[in-house]
Amino acid sequence: MASPIKSLTVKKFPSLLGGRQKKFNSAPATVPSGTDSSRELAKALHPDYQYLTVAAVKERAPDCKSFTLVPDPEKGTKGLAFFGAGKYLTVFETIDGMQVTRAYSISSSPADSLEGKYELTVKEVGGGLVSNYILKNWTVGTSVKVSAPAGNFEYQPLRDAKTVIGLAGGSGITPFVSMANAIADGDEDFNLILLYGSRDEANILFRDELDAIANKCEKFKVVHVLSDASDLPDGMEKGFITSDLIRKYAPADGDYSIFICGPQQMYDFLDKELKSLGKERKFIRRETFGEIHNPKQFADYPADVPETVNITVTIQDFTATVTGSTSDTVMQILEKQGIAVPSRCRSGECGFCHSHLISGNVYIPKSLDYRRMADIPYSCIHPCCTFPLSDLVVNIPAAK
Ligand code: FES
Repeated sequence: MASPIKSLTVKKFPSLLGGRQKKFNSAPATVPSGTDSSRELAKALHPDYQYLTVAAVKERAPDCKSFTLVPDPEKGTKGLAFFGAGKYLTVFETIDGMQVTRAYSISSSPADSLEGKYELTVKEVGGGLVSNYILKNWTVGTSVKVSAPAGNFEYQPLRDAKTVIGLAGGSGITPFVSMANAIADGDEDFNLILLYGSRDEANILFRDELDAIANKCEKFKVVHVLSDASDLPDGMEKGFITSDLIRKYAPADGDYSIFICGPQQMYDFLDKELKSLGKERKFIRRETFGEIHNPKQFADYPADVPETVNITVTIQDFTATVTGSTSDTVMQILEKQGIAVPSRCRSGECGFCHSHLISGNVYIPKSLDYRRMADIPYSCIHPCCTFPLSDLVVNIPAAK
């Protein structure tokens, strides 16, 4: 099926204006009856929720599985929302009475969504409540509730260079698999040179798929970088992704963007490495979804913080006071008490959990503080990346 996105072209817009004006002038001054097609389209592209079923499960490594998800028409989802490669879905689950959410990048191609399929790939994480629950419990036939595709980790031709150096670590490969497929399908037009870090060959995810795309599409190249391998296969690199390695594969004229997706340690390591490349900030993009635990890892975290605090929360006409650990975010504390907070990215970026701090002191890691300037004087916070330092009173908007 041809992508409807391909049929949209900016050049057509000026010629549409005259026709729209004529229709507007000749329209009756009464409320139109029937279906509003633009609203229908908006709803199809941005549904509040999508109700899906697991149609297939594929083991990618002993600790990693891919799940093919298809619409569940009985629950009201007849088709899937289209997306740009690099977007994520937020999964809603109830685990031991807690309503929790987690964001996972879509690893399938955008074209697959038009055929009624998404693929999410989930890897086990130490202490990872939702990932470990999914790996254990999702089987063919499991019902799944997810958000519309969301996120900003996607190629923008007006902002990004024509060549992207993708830096992936572990399960951070997933958005790049979607991008590589989109390039091969002709839905995206840029060159992707992917440096993919894994411990050893056994831990490379999507190896066959990536090789197959690279063989048929000259705009995509993948280089595996193995940190622990003793025998290094031809064409692979040993060690970590460094600035020297990026220079080795990047275009000689230096005209490229860098996209990064991987574990926190990789970001910390790359922060130092990338400085020597002297790239403008807009040419370095990183996927931000993922939770932060243990605020003590940040150098500017204050001393003498109590172990536990009380949080009084109001959500519309519901009010409760709960006690939680200062090692948890405000969102984690509330969820552990069965209080659901609206959320999508869980890393400060999407603004979906935007709330009002009425009183108390909090710590927000600088690297996750995506609040707008106007939020700060009005004590607005994102509970997903805000740690309490004292007793708090918080007002949270209700989920839709
Ligand atoms: S869930 Fe995205 S900012 Fe909090």
